[in-house]
Amino acid sequence: DMAEKGGYPDFMLKEIFEQPRVVRDTLVGRLAPTGELDIDELGLTYEQLDVIDRVYVIACGTSYHAGLIAKNLIEGWARIPCEVEAASEFRYRNPIITPSTLVVAVSQSGETADTLAAIRDARIKGAKVFGITNVVGSPVARESDGVIYTKANKEIAVASTKSFIGQVVSLTLLALLLGQVKGKLTTAQVRMLFHELGDTAEQIQWVLDTQKEAVHEAALACKDARSALFVGRGMGAAISNEGALKLKEISYLHAEAYAAGEMKHGPIALIDPGFPVIAVATKSPTYDKTVSNLKECEARGARIIAVATEGDEDIRKVADHVIYVPAVRDALSAITATVPLQLLAREVAILRGCDVDQPRNLAKSVTVE
Ligand code: G6P
Repeated sequence: DMAEKGGYPDFMLKEIFEQPRVVRDTLVGRLAPTGELDIDELGLTYEQLDVIDRVYVIACGTSYHAGLIAKNLIEGWARIPCEVEAASEFRYRNPIITPSTLVVAVSQSGETADTLAAIRDARIKGAKVFGITNVVGSPVARESDGVIYTKANKEIAVASTKSFIGQVVSLTLLALLLGQVKGKLTTAQVRMLFHELGDTAEQIQWVLDTQKEAVHEAALACKDARSALFVGRGMGAAISNEGALKLKEISYLHAEAYAAGEMKHGPIALIDPGFPVIAVATKSPTYDKTVSNLKECEARGARIIAVATEGDEDIRKVADHVIYVPAVRDALSAITATVPLQLLAREVAILRGCDVDQPRNLAKSVTVE
Protein backbone atom coordinates (compact mmCIF):
# COMPACT_ATOMS: atom_id res chain seq x y z
CA ASP A 1 0.00 0.00 0.00
CA MET A 2 2.79 2.39 1.03
CA ALA A 3 4.64 1.47 -2.19
CA GLU A 4 1.59 2.28 -4.29
CA LYS A 5 1.40 5.61 -2.55
CA GLY A 6 5.02 6.27 -3.43
CA GLY A 7 5.95 6.86 0.20
CA TYR A 8 3.17 9.41 0.77
CA PRO A 9 0.69 8.81 3.60
CA ASP A 10 -2.30 9.00 1.25
CA PHE A 11 -3.08 9.12 -2.46
CA MET A 12 -4.37 12.66 -2.22
CA LEU A 13 -1.00 14.00 -1.11
CA LYS A 14 0.81 11.89 -3.70
CA GLU A 15 -1.46 13.29 -6.39
CA ILE A 16 -1.06 16.88 -5.18
CA PHE A 17 2.70 16.44 -5.44
CA GLU A 18 2.38 15.11 -8.99
CA GLN A 19 0.93 18.40 -10.20
CA PRO A 20 4.17 19.96 -11.51
CA ARG A 21 4.58 16.89 -13.73
CA VAL A 22 0.97 17.13 -14.90
CA VAL A 23 1.54 20.70 -16.05
CA ARG A 24 4.67 19.69 -17.96
CA ASP A 25 3.16 16.57 -19.54
CA THR A 26 -0.02 18.35 -20.59
CA LEU A 27 2.08 20.93 -22.45
CA VAL A 28 4.57 18.60 -24.15
CA GLY A 29 4.63 19.16 -27.90
CA ARG A 30 1.95 21.84 -27.83
CA LEU A 31 3.96 24.71 -29.27
CA ALA A 32 5.22 24.25 -32.81
CA PRO A 33 8.55 25.90 -33.73
CA THR A 34 6.55 28.40 -35.79
CA GLY A 35 4.96 29.67 -32.56
CA GLU A 36 1.59 28.16 -33.50
CA LEU A 37 -0.22 26.08 -30.93
CA ASP A 38 -0.47 22.45 -31.88
CA ILE A 39 -3.72 20.89 -30.71
CA ASP A 40 -4.33 18.54 -33.59
CA GLU A 41 -6.75 16.33 -31.69
CA LEU A 42 -9.33 19.09 -31.81
CA GLY A 43 -10.02 18.00 -35.36
CA LEU A 44 -11.10 21.45 -36.54
CA THR A 45 -9.29 23.80 -38.90
CA TYR A 46 -8.61 27.45 -38.05
CA GLU A 47 -11.40 28.37 -40.49
CA GLN A 48 -13.87 26.14 -38.67
CA LEU A 49 -12.78 27.51 -35.30
CA ASP A 50 -13.09 31.08 -36.52
CA VAL A 51 -16.85 30.59 -36.95
CA ILE A 52 -17.40 29.88 -33.26
CA ASP A 53 -19.45 32.62 -31.63
CA ARG A 54 -20.50 31.00 -28.36
CA VAL A 55 -18.92 28.54 -25.98
CA TYR A 56 -20.55 26.41 -23.30
CA VAL A 57 -18.40 24.57 -20.84
CA ILE A 58 -20.37 21.69 -19.33
CA ALA A 59 -19.13 19.55 -16.48
CA CYS A 60 -19.80 18.40 -12.93
CA GLY A 61 -18.06 18.84 -9.59
CA THR A 62 -14.43 19.86 -9.70
CA SER A 63 -14.47 19.75 -13.50
CA TYR A 64 -17.20 22.39 -13.41
CA HIS A 65 -14.86 24.61 -11.44
CA ALA A 66 -12.20 24.23 -14.12
CA GLY A 67 -14.91 25.58 -16.42
CA LEU A 68 -15.35 28.68 -14.24
CA ILE A 69 -11.65 29.41 -14.73
CA ALA A 70 -11.94 28.80 -18.47
CA LYS A 71 -14.78 31.28 -18.85
CA ASN A 72 -12.48 34.07 -17.67
CA LEU A 73 -9.80 33.04 -20.14
CA ILE A 74 -11.99 32.41 -23.17
CA GLU A 75 -13.86 35.68 -22.75
CA GLY A 76 -10.71 37.57 -21.81
CA TRP A 77 -8.41 36.33 -24.56
CA ALA A 78 -10.75 35.32 -27.39
CA ARG A 79 -13.65 37.68 -26.62
CA ILE A 80 -16.14 34.87 -27.28
CA PRO A 81 -19.13 34.75 -24.89
CA CYS A 82 -18.73 31.70 -22.68
CA GLU A 83 -21.14 30.12 -20.24
CA VAL A 84 -20.34 27.43 -17.74
CA GLU A 85 -23.06 25.08 -16.73
CA ALA A 86 -23.52 21.99 -14.62
CA ALA A 87 -24.20 19.14 -17.03
CA SER A 88 -27.19 18.07 -14.93
CA GLU A 89 -28.79 21.45 -15.61
CA PHE A 90 -27.71 21.90 -19.21
CA ARG A 91 -29.25 18.62 -20.33
CA TYR A 92 -32.71 19.47 -19.05
CA ARG A 93 -33.12 22.97 -20.36
CA ASN A 94 -33.18 24.21 -23.88
CA PRO A 95 -29.83 25.95 -24.31
CA ILE A 96 -29.25 28.15 -27.33
CA ILE A 97 -27.17 25.99 -29.62
CA THR A 98 -26.34 26.60 -33.27
CA PRO A 99 -23.73 25.09 -35.60
CA SER A 100 -21.38 27.90 -34.53
CA THR A 101 -21.63 26.88 -30.86
CA LEU A 102 -18.71 25.10 -29.28
CA VAL A 103 -19.50 22.85 -26.33
CA VAL A 104 -16.53 21.91 -24.20
CA ALA A 105 -17.24 18.89 -22.02
CA VAL A 106 -14.82 18.50 -19.12
CA SER A 107 -14.67 15.19 -17.29
CA GLN A 108 -11.82 13.54 -15.47
CA SER A 109 -13.32 10.05 -15.74
CA GLY A 110 -14.90 10.62 -19.12
CA GLU A 111 -17.91 8.65 -17.98
CA THR A 112 -20.07 10.96 -15.87
CA ALA A 113 -23.66 10.23 -16.88
CA ASP A 114 -24.90 13.83 -16.90
CA THR A 115 -21.92 15.08 -18.89
CA LEU A 116 -22.35 12.35 -21.49
CA ALA A 117 -26.05 13.07 -21.83
CA ALA A 118 -25.27 16.76 -22.32
CA ILE A 119 -22.74 15.93 -25.05
CA ARG A 120 -25.27 13.79 -26.91
CA ASP A 121 -27.91 16.47 -26.67
CA ALA A 122 -25.54 19.20 -27.85
CA ARG A 123 -24.45 17.18 -30.88
CA ILE A 124 -28.01 16.45 -31.89
CA LYS A 125 -28.60 20.20 -31.82
CA GLY A 126 -25.64 20.76 -34.12
CA ALA A 127 -22.90 21.97 -31.78
CA LYS A 128 -19.26 21.05 -32.15
CA VAL A 129 -18.15 19.20 -29.01
CA PHE A 130 -14.65 19.06 -27.57
CA GLY A 131 -13.93 16.71 -24.72
CA ILE A 132 -11.33 17.33 -22.07
CA THR A 133 -10.72 14.12 -20.19
CA ASN A 134 -8.11 12.15 -18.34
CA VAL A 135 -9.10 8.73 -19.62
CA VAL A 136 -8.02 7.64 -23.08
CA GLY A 137 -10.85 6.08 -25.07
CA SER A 138 -13.46 6.97 -22.45
CA PRO A 139 -17.05 7.66 -23.54
CA VAL A 140 -16.48 11.42 -23.43
CA ALA A 141 -13.45 11.01 -25.69
CA ARG A 142 -15.32 8.72 -28.10
CA GLU A 143 -18.44 10.81 -28.34
CA SER A 144 -16.78 14.19 -28.86
CA ASP A 145 -15.62 15.66 -32.18
CA GLY A 146 -12.19 16.23 -30.71
CA VAL A 147 -10.46 15.64 -27.41
CA ILE A 148 -7.63 16.98 -25.29
CA TYR A 149 -6.16 14.56 -22.76
CA THR A 150 -5.12 15.99 -19.43
CA LYS A 151 -2.14 13.69 -18.80
CA ALA A 152 -2.80 13.48 -15.07
CA ASN A 153 -2.56 9.66 -15.18
CA LYS A 154 -4.82 7.59 -12.98
CA GLU A 155 -6.28 9.55 -10.10
CA ILE A 156 -7.19 7.42 -7.09
CA ALA A 157 -8.23 9.82 -4.33
CA VAL A 158 -11.93 10.58 -4.68
CA ALA A 159 -11.37 14.31 -4.32
CA SER A 160 -9.88 15.48 -7.58
CA THR A 161 -6.62 17.46 -7.46
CA LYS A 162 -4.13 16.74 -10.22
CA SER A 163 -6.89 16.23 -12.76
CA PHE A 164 -8.17 19.71 -12.02
CA ILE A 165 -4.74 21.18 -12.72
CA GLY A 166 -4.57 19.19 -15.98
CA GLN A 167 -8.01 20.48 -16.93
CA VAL A 168 -7.14 24.10 -16.21
CA VAL A 169 -3.91 23.80 -18.23
CA SER A 170 -5.80 22.19 -21.14
CA LEU A 171 -8.54 24.81 -21.05
CA THR A 172 -5.87 27.53 -20.96
CA LEU A 173 -4.41 26.06 -24.16
CA LEU A 174 -7.84 26.05 -25.73
CA ALA A 175 -8.41 29.69 -24.74
CA LEU A 176 -5.02 30.65 -26.21
CA LEU A 177 -5.89 28.84 -29.42
CA LEU A 178 -9.25 30.60 -29.69
CA GLY A 179 -7.59 33.94 -28.93
CA GLN A 180 -5.12 33.35 -31.74
CA VAL A 181 -7.75 32.15 -34.21
CA LYS A 182 -9.94 35.15 -33.46
CA GLY A 183 -6.98 37.48 -34.00
CA LYS A 184 -7.17 38.82 -30.44
CA LEU A 185 -3.76 37.45 -29.45
CA THR A 186 -0.64 37.74 -31.58
CA THR A 187 1.67 34.80 -32.10
CA ALA A 188 4.20 36.55 -29.87
CA GLN A 189 1.65 36.93 -27.08
CA VAL A 190 0.60 33.31 -27.37
CA ARG A 191 4.21 32.20 -27.17
CA MET A 192 4.85 34.35 -24.09
CA LEU A 193 1.70 33.14 -22.33
CA PHE A 194 2.52 29.55 -23.23
CA HIS A 195 5.91 29.87 -21.58
CA GLU A 196 4.41 31.47 -18.49
CA LEU A 197 1.91 28.61 -18.38
CA GLY A 198 4.83 26.16 -18.40
CA ASP A 199 6.51 28.09 -15.58
CA THR A 200 3.60 27.27 -13.28
CA ALA A 201 5.10 23.78 -12.87
CA GLU A 202 8.03 25.27 -10.96
CA GLN A 203 5.74 27.65 -9.12
CA ILE A 204 3.56 24.82 -7.86
CA GLN A 205 6.72 23.05 -6.74
CA TRP A 206 7.72 26.14 -4.75
CA VAL A 207 4.37 26.09 -2.93
CA LEU A 208 4.77 22.39 -2.15
CA ASP A 209 8.33 22.88 -0.92
CA THR A 210 7.87 25.99 1.21
CA GLN A 211 4.30 26.38 2.49
CA LYS A 212 3.77 23.23 4.53
CA GLU A 213 4.05 24.96 7.90
CA ALA A 214 1.82 27.87 6.84
CA VAL A 215 -0.83 25.40 5.67
CA HIS A 216 -0.66 23.53 8.96
CA GLU A 217 -1.12 26.71 11.01
CA ALA A 218 -4.07 27.73 8.87
CA ALA A 219 -5.61 24.27 9.20
CA LEU A 220 -5.42 24.46 12.99
CA ALA A 221 -7.42 27.68 12.77
CA CYS A 222 -10.18 25.91 10.83
CA LYS A 223 -10.38 22.50 12.37
CA ASP A 224 -12.94 23.21 15.08
CA ALA A 225 -15.06 25.58 13.03
CA ARG A 226 -18.62 24.68 12.09
CA SER A 227 -18.50 26.51 8.82
CA ALA A 228 -16.06 28.42 6.61
CA LEU A 229 -16.34 30.98 3.85
CA PHE A 230 -14.07 31.11 0.80
CA VAL A 231 -13.93 34.46 -0.92
CA GLY A 232 -12.22 36.18 -3.82
CA ARG A 233 -12.93 38.25 -6.89
CA GLY A 234 -12.57 37.43 -10.56
CA MET A 235 -10.22 34.48 -10.89
CA GLY A 236 -10.10 34.42 -7.09
CA ALA A 237 -13.86 33.88 -6.93
CA ALA A 238 -13.62 30.97 -9.34
CA ILE A 239 -10.75 29.44 -7.35
CA SER A 240 -12.71 29.88 -4.10
CA ASN A 241 -15.37 27.53 -5.38
CA GLU A 242 -12.88 24.74 -5.73
CA GLY A 243 -11.40 25.51 -2.31
CA ALA A 244 -14.80 25.25 -0.64
CA LEU A 245 -15.67 22.04 -2.48
CA LYS A 246 -12.38 20.38 -1.51
CA LEU A 247 -12.90 21.29 2.15
CA LYS A 248 -16.47 20.01 2.39
CA GLU A 249 -15.75 16.85 0.39
CA ILE A 250 -13.02 15.54 2.63
CA SER A 251 -13.33 17.27 6.02
CA TYR A 252 -17.17 17.42 6.25
CA LEU A 253 -16.84 21.00 7.38
CA HIS A 254 -19.52 23.15 5.83
CA ALA A 255 -17.95 25.59 3.39
CA GLU A 256 -19.32 28.06 0.95
CA ALA A 257 -17.65 30.16 -1.72
CA TYR A 258 -18.73 33.71 -2.33
CA ALA A 259 -17.63 36.54 -4.57
CA ALA A 260 -16.00 38.86 -2.05
CA GLY A 261 -17.99 41.90 -3.18
CA GLU A 262 -21.25 40.07 -2.52
CA MET A 263 -20.46 39.34 1.12
CA LYS A 264 -22.26 42.43 2.32
CA HIS A 265 -25.48 41.16 0.75
CA GLY A 266 -25.78 38.19 3.06
CA PRO A 267 -22.87 36.04 4.16
CA ILE A 268 -21.31 38.74 6.31
CA ALA A 269 -24.19 38.09 8.70
CA LEU A 270 -22.61 34.71 9.44
CA ILE A 271 -19.39 36.21 10.70
CA ASP A 272 -18.78 36.10 14.42
CA PRO A 273 -15.52 35.95 16.37
CA GLY A 274 -13.29 33.15 15.13
CA PHE A 275 -15.28 32.42 11.97
CA PRO A 276 -12.79 31.29 9.29
CA VAL A 277 -12.71 33.30 6.07
CA ILE A 278 -10.33 31.91 3.49
CA ALA A 279 -9.47 34.51 0.89
CA VAL A 280 -7.80 34.21 -2.47
CA ALA A 281 -6.03 37.55 -2.29
CA THR A 282 -3.24 37.23 -4.82
CA LYS A 283 -2.08 40.34 -6.69
CA SER A 284 -4.70 41.08 -9.34
CA PRO A 285 -6.56 44.11 -10.66
CA THR A 286 -9.09 43.70 -7.82
CA TYR A 287 -6.59 43.04 -5.03
CA ASP A 288 -7.37 46.29 -3.16
CA LYS A 289 -11.11 45.64 -3.33
CA THR A 290 -10.65 42.16 -1.91
CA VAL A 291 -8.54 43.53 0.93
CA SER A 292 -11.26 46.03 1.86
CA ASN A 293 -13.79 43.20 1.95
CA LEU A 294 -11.44 41.34 4.27
CA LYS A 295 -11.22 44.37 6.55
CA GLU A 296 -15.00 44.24 6.88
CA CYS A 297 -14.75 40.61 7.94
CA GLU A 298 -11.87 41.34 10.29
CA ALA A 299 -13.88 44.08 12.00
CA ARG A 300 -16.49 41.43 12.85
CA GLY A 301 -13.93 39.09 14.35
CA ALA A 302 -13.36 36.72 11.44
CA ARG A 303 -10.20 34.67 11.46
CA ILE A 304 -8.70 35.38 8.09
CA ILE A 305 -6.55 33.01 6.10
CA ALA A 306 -5.18 34.56 2.93
CA VAL A 307 -3.62 32.96 -0.09
CA ALA A 308 -1.38 35.81 -1.19
CA THR A 309 1.47 36.65 -3.52
CA GLU A 310 4.99 35.96 -2.30
CA GLY A 311 6.47 39.18 -0.92
CA ASP A 312 3.11 40.72 0.03
CA GLU A 313 3.76 41.63 3.67
CA ASP A 314 0.91 44.16 3.83
CA ILE A 315 -1.64 41.38 3.73
CA ARG A 316 -0.54 40.43 7.24
CA LYS A 317 -2.21 43.58 8.53
CA VAL A 318 -5.57 42.01 7.80
CA ALA A 319 -4.88 38.26 7.67
CA ASP A 320 -4.17 36.04 10.69
CA HIS A 321 -2.57 33.38 8.51
CA VAL A 322 -0.96 33.73 5.10
CA ILE A 323 -0.08 31.02 2.60
CA TYR A 324 2.09 32.33 -0.20
CA VAL A 325 2.17 31.53 -3.90
CA PRO A 326 4.69 32.92 -6.40
CA ALA A 327 3.76 35.98 -8.45
CA VAL A 328 1.99 34.97 -11.66
CA ARG A 329 -0.20 36.77 -14.12
CA ASP A 330 -3.82 36.84 -12.92
CA ALA A 331 -4.98 34.74 -15.87
CA LEU A 332 -2.75 31.88 -14.73
CA SER A 333 -3.35 32.28 -11.00
CA ALA A 334 -5.80 29.39 -10.67
CA ILE A 335 -3.01 26.93 -11.33
CA THR A 336 -0.90 28.14 -8.43
CA ALA A 337 -3.52 29.43 -5.98
CA THR A 338 -5.58 26.24 -5.99
CA VAL A 339 -2.68 24.21 -4.60
CA PRO A 340 -2.68 25.79 -1.10
CA LEU A 341 -6.44 25.24 -0.93
CA GLN A 342 -6.02 21.55 -1.76
CA LEU A 343 -3.35 21.24 0.92
CA LEU A 344 -5.48 23.13 3.42
CA ALA A 345 -8.51 20.91 2.85
CA ARG A 346 -6.40 17.81 3.28
CA GLU A 347 -4.75 19.09 6.44
CA VAL A 348 -8.09 20.06 8.02
CA ALA A 349 -9.50 16.64 7.11
CA ILE A 350 -6.57 14.88 8.74
CA LEU A 351 -6.83 17.02 11.88
CA ARG A 352 -10.50 16.05 12.05
CA GLY A 353 -9.66 12.37 11.70
CA CYS A 354 -11.21 11.89 8.26
CA ASP A 355 -10.18 9.43 5.57
CA VAL A 356 -8.94 11.85 2.93
CA ASP A 357 -8.84 9.34 0.08
CA GLN A 358 -12.25 7.76 0.64
CA PRO A 359 -14.73 10.35 1.89
CA ARG A 360 -18.12 9.05 2.96
CA ASN A 361 -21.02 9.16 0.50
CA LEU A 362 -18.90 10.13 -2.50
CA ALA A 363 -17.86 8.17 -5.57
CA LYS A 364 -14.93 8.77 -7.88
CA SER A 365 -17.15 8.74 -10.90
CA VAL A 366 -20.90 9.01 -11.15
CA THR A 367 -22.11 6.87 -14.02
CA VAL A 368 -25.76 6.91 -13.06
CA GLU A 369 -27.96 9.92 -12.95
C1 G6P B 1 -17.56 12.98 -8.72
C2 G6P B 1 -16.16 13.04 -8.16
C3 G6P B 1 -15.58 14.45 -8.33
C4 G6P B 1 -15.66 14.87 -9.78
C5 G6P B 1 -17.07 14.75 -10.35
C6 G6P B 1 -17.09 14.91 -11.87
O1 G6P B 1 -18.41 13.75 -7.94
O2 G6P B 1 -16.16 12.69 -6.78
O3 G6P B 1 -14.22 14.48 -7.90
O4 G6P B 1 -15.22 16.21 -9.92
O5 G6P B 1 -17.60 13.46 -10.07
O6 G6P B 1 -16.38 13.84 -12.43
P1 G6P B 1 -15.73 13.83 -13.83
O7 G6P B 1 -15.08 12.49 -13.96
O8 G6P B 1 -16.83 14.01 -14.85
O9 G6P B 1 -14.76 14.96 -13.91
